[in-house]
Amino acid sequence: MGLDSPDHPGRRIAMPANRTLLLLPGDGIGPEVMTEVRHVIGWLARHRAVSFEITEDLVGGAAIDARGTPIAAETVARAKAADAVLFGAVGGPKWDKLGFAKRPEIGILTLRRELGLFANLRPAVVLEPLVAASTLKPELVRGLDLMIVREATGGIYFGEPRGVETLPDGQKRGINTEVYTTGEIERVGRVAFALAQKRARRLCSVEKANVMESGLLWRETMTALGKREFPEIALSHMYADNCAMQLVRNPRQFDVIVTSNLFGDLLSDLASMLTGSLGMLPSATLGAPDASGKRPALYEPIHGSAPDIAGKGLANPMAEILSFAMLLRWSFALEDEAALLERACTNVLASGLRTPDVMAPGCREVGTKAMGEAVVKELDRLAA
Ligand code: IPM
Ligand code: MG
Repeated sequence: MGLDSPDHPGRRIAMPANRTLLLLPGDGIGPEVMTEVRHVIGWLARHRAVSFEITEDLVGGAAIDARGTPIAAETVARAKAADAVLFGAVGGPKWDKLGFAKRPEIGILTLRRELGLFANLRPAVVLEPLVAASTLKPELVRGLDLMIVREATGGIYFGEPRGVETLPDGQKRGINTEVYTTGEIERVGRVAFALAQKRARRLCSVEKANVMESGLLWRETMTALGKREFPEIALSHMYADNCAMQLVRNPRQFDVIVTSNLFGDLLSDLASMLTGSLGMLPSATLGAPDASGKRPALYEPIHGSAPDIAGKGLANPMAEILSFAMLLRWSFALEDEAALLERACTNVLASGLRTPDVMAPGCREVGTKAMGEAVVKELDRLAA
């Protein structure tokens, strides 16, 4: 099948399927964890007759080194053409000194903007075997299952004006702009309300309406949207600073949180640590369906490129594998396969295997490869 062979940018691996996937491993631990997903993809093809037509390409520092740009136009075109994109991670000290527009991070930001991926879904779920891995007390986090919906194509990340200017007195002045339209707020709001509908029916909208006009507009727009389209959902509002505090005080009060790009960036890192490890958490970023019903979608682990452990075979591949499970569910409606994969991951953890990031007393420490192999072996067992 050739799935496990080394990456070649843009190379197409023919498979008997019309589900198209673009894999973008990126930098740091990205390629290592992506390798484990390829094994899972191979397993699905062999055992479930679920296969994909796969393209691979470069992004981030890897693309800078090979092509002088964090993401090539042809890569963006491939991402647009694919049914779904599975992303690894970008960035690292090697590229830290580059000018702003050339940084590896521009790779992921460009994909979000160009594909219109406005709704970033970041679940924070505490799996029972990992309750002790959280830095919070077990009784606070046991059973935690919250979803942060982060707006991802607007706000201060993309607002104009932006830049650094030199003032007449020689000082410099850095500018970024937080800006949201009602349309942008409503479309991400609808995604969050719809998710809440399938969950515990509670949505908490987070902003700083006490100091920001855009935050006040956010609050008013969410309130009106809820009244108009989702009266059955209990909508509450919280200031972002209070939300940060509440997340560590009593995280289980939340079901779904919806917030802006910047606050979502901060709060999702915070929420991820409630679960014990950044290495465990997947995410999905979705756009609007087109006329044919096809919805642009990119899936990525929340952890970054983790340069400190890159290349050492220590990275936890679970977040990338679980991101692939989200991909199966959201882009291809393969609910059974997604659930199977999630069960396999939980069972492997319950068996006591741990990568260093979630290591606990009495468990056995393994590396990336052994963890990936254990997941595939558990899939074999579950499918037997
Ligand atoms: C994230 C990351 C990105 C962001 C970076 C890599 C641009 O922190 O996905 O949370 O700030 O959105
Ligand atoms: Mg972040």
